[in-house]
Amino acid sequence: MRAEANSCSKSTFLSFSLVSDSRVMADRRIKWLSPIQFGGSSFDAEVQSRAWKVRLEHLQPSAMVCYEEQMVSPSRYWLDKEIGAFAASLRSGSLVLDAGAGNQRYRGKFDGHRYESADFEMVDKKYEPSTYVCDLASIPVEDDRYDAVLFSQVMEHLPDPASVLAELRRVLKPGGTIFCSAPLFYEEHEKPYDFYRYTQFGFRRLFEDAGLTVVETRWLEGFMGTAYLQMTWLAKYMPLSPKALGGGIAGWTMAAVLVVLKPSLRLLASLAARCDKNNRYTAKGYPSSYVVLALKP
Ligand SMILES: C[S@@+](CC[C@H](N)C(=O)[O-])C[C@H]1O[C@@H](n2cnc3c(N)ncnc32)[C@H](O)[C@@H]1O
Repeated sequence: MRAEANSCSKSTFLSFSLVSDSRVMADRRIKWLSPIQFGGSSFDAEVQSRAWKVRLEHLQPSAMVCYEEQMVSPSRYWLDKEIGAFAASLRSGSLVLDAGAGNQRYRGKFDGHRYESADFEMVDKKYEPSTYVCDLASIPVEDDRYDAVLFSQVMEHLPDPASVLAELRRVLKPGGTIFCSAPLFYEEHEKPYDFYRYTQFGFRRLFEDAGLTVVETRWLEGFMGTAYLQMTWLAKYMPLSPKALGGGIAGWTMAAVLVVLKPSLRLLASLAARCDKNNRYTAKGYPSSYVVLALKP
C-alpha cells in the first residue's frame, strides 16, 4: 500500500479500504498480536494506555494511511482556489505584495503578475527568501506601490493588527485590493507568534478603522471543513489513559469508548474533508477561517 500511496487519487480513496497490502498488514497484525502484558499485581494504567496507543495505531485501515498521506486539508484546498481566483481577477502585470509570505506557496498563482514578498522570517521553519525581510508594520517601500496585497493566514500572528492594516493601506494604490484570510478556529501555531482569532465582525471593524473598504467577508471552508479539523484533533489529542481522563467509572468508560472511537473519528474526519471539498456547507456552524476582500478607496 505504501508504494501505491503515491499514486492513490482522490476518487479511489474509499476503494482502498477493500485493498490490503499483505506486507504492511501482516506487519501490523504481528504488532497487534504482540503480547503486551496486562493485569497482575503490577498493573499500571499508564502502561495500559501506552499499549492501547500502540494498538490503535495499527487499527487504522490502510486506506486511511493512504488517504492521510495524500490529504490536503479543506482550508488549504479552498485557499488554493480562492487565491487562484483573486490572482485571476487582477489586471495582467499587476504588482502584488505577498505580506507574510512564509514559504511563498501561492507565488505560482501570480505568474502573470509581478510578485514581491515581505516576511519577518522569525519563526523556526523553512522560508523562501523574501523580497523584504521586515515587520509588516513597517514595509520599506514607497506609498501607493502595489495593485494588490495577498495577506493569507497572517493576521492572527500580529500583536498589533491595526498598525499592519494601516501599513498595508499605505503601500496599496487607491483602488488596490487586499485578499485576507485568517482563522476563527485553529489551534496555536507558529508559537510564540500567535496572538488572536477573528470573527467576521472583528475583521470588518479592524479593516474599516484602518481606512479600508470591506467588499465582502465570507467563510473559507464550510462547517464540514471545521468538523474535519475538530475530529482530527480529537483523535490526535484526547488521552487514552483512564488516569488522565480523571479515573473512576467515567475515566475508564471514556478510555474504553475512545479506543473504539478514535479510528472512527479519523475516518469521519477524512470523509468530512471530502464532503467539504464537494460542497461548502455554510447554513449552520462556523468556518475555521474567514476570507476578507477589501480595497483602498
Ligand atoms: C501561518 S504563516 C502563513 C504563510 C503564508 N502566507 C501562507 O498562507 O501559507 C504566517 C507568516 O507570517 C509571518 N509573520 C508573522 N508575523 C509577522 C510580522 N509581524 N511581520 C512579518 N511577517 C510576519 C510569519 O513569518 C509566517 O511566515
